[in-house]
Amino acid sequence: MSSRSWAEPYKIKMVELLKMTTPKQRKKAIEEAGFNTFLLKSEDVYIDLLTDSGTSAMSDRQWAGMMLGDEAYAGSRNFYNLERVVKKCYGYKHLIPTHQGRGAENILSQVMIKKGDIIPGNMYFTTTRLHQELAGGTFYDVIIDEAHDSTSLHPFKGDIDIAKLDKLVKKFGAKKIPYVCVATTVNMAGGQPISLKNLKELRAYTNKLGIKIILDMTRIAENAYFIQQREKGYANKNIASIVRQICDLTDGATFSAKKDALVNIGGFLTLNDDKKFEEASNLVVVYEGLHTYGGLAGRDMEAMAIGIEESLNDDHINARVGQVIYLGNKLIASGVPIVQPIGGHGIFIDAKLFLPHVKQINFPAQALAAEIFEDSGVRTMERGIVSAGRNAKTGDHYFPKLELVRLTIPRRVYTQAHMDVISESIDSVYKRRNEIKGMEMIYEPTYLRFFQARFKRL
Ligand code: F0G
Repeated sequence: MSSRSWAEPYKIKMVELLKMTTPKQRKKAIEEAGFNTFLLKSEDVYIDLLTDSGTSAMSDRQWAGMMLGDEAYAGSRNFYNLERVVKKCYGYKHLIPTHQGRGAENILSQVMIKKGDIIPGNMYFTTTRLHQELAGGTFYDVIIDEAHDSTSLHPFKGDIDIAKLDKLVKKFGAKKIPYVCVATTVNMAGGQPISLKNLKELRAYTNKLGIKIILDMTRIAENAYFIQQREKGYANKNIASIVRQICDLTDGATFSAKKDALVNIGGFLTLNDDKKFEEASNLVVVYEGLHTYGGLAGRDMEAMAIGIEESLNDDHINARVGQVIYLGNKLIASGVPIVQPIGGHGIFIDAKLFLPHVKQINFPAQALAAEIFEDSGVRTMERGIVSAGRNAKTGDHYFPKLELVRLTIPRRVYTQAHMDVISESIDSVYKRRNEIKGMEMIYEPTYLRFFQARFKRL
């Protein structure tokens, strides 16, 4: 890496004013939200690190593209622009736009999974696993053990443990495994990348057995950045070419364009298989909309097409991940326990290490997220036992090894001074960590409970 700073390759043309709140206002707001940061009003939030999903700032070029929306019901010009960009940048044969990532996951799961099937993957993602289960499949985690250890410095904690996968194949038979679900920069592991070496090994292994590889390519540009920085032989390759190499090793992908692609809404499903594509493009009209808009306005598809190309620019990704690393290094310097190496889309605080006196069943990450909001109006997200949910068969809580608070950084939105304020707030909460108490869940919804659950302080 060069010795120069990661400064932004853009300047600011328009600003959005924020409300500054008092400690009293924040205390009231978080109590009314049942100590769940998802239930806060955005107006009451100062720096919003809930997610990097749909929260990025679009460029002037993207906004100009919005004006070129062709809002025809069928065959919009913007669809063909998007299709051209997806083929050029990612190389997949067929494209089906969807309203966002989970729309693509639904269609994919329905066309690929039969009742009783097994879906191995490099750690679960909430909506992805739920759609696999709703389609009658069972998810199995085959990520390497290091991914579950917040202190392991393994450079590719998103790698798949082929021995674990082989065990599943021996136990259930390859016919029961329609595909391996491979995520780029594994969200729940802390934004950790998969290496091209591992993906090539996986391809060789699955080819022998006729098992497909479907990518969750939601944060693929960030994954490519880590390959460029850490994997031998890629230092001189640009992001676009590494992204293309990843895609070329797989059979299709689901994509939430709300992350990498710098848009506020959108996603897609891609498939190389003609027959599966035909089935999927028939199903999309049931759930999303016609196969040339899939729940999106023409203008959304145009902004996505432009955003995809911007996302693969080396200067963009260098600054994007550079900002995350800047914040992470500040927290490490204050002694705050975070997942390392620092991930691509955010900083993940290890709530078990931060609050060792709070048992996992008392939701330490949930409690910590509420505390950080009260301290400074910085909104973060629980990624621990609440997000993990319950085992569909036994009804028991999953107790994930990782109990994390995620500080997700939107792309091109906040400044270095914001990063400093965030770090100062976490630091002050850390200094009084012994006073922080656990939580009790007082309302639990059936699906994806973390979105709407309510808590009270013990
Ligand atoms: N896959 C990954 C890895 C994701 O992070 C997300 C969304 C999805 C699929 C689903 O996409 O939201 O467009 O339907 N993650 C968001 C987050 C919600 O905050 O991490 P979606």
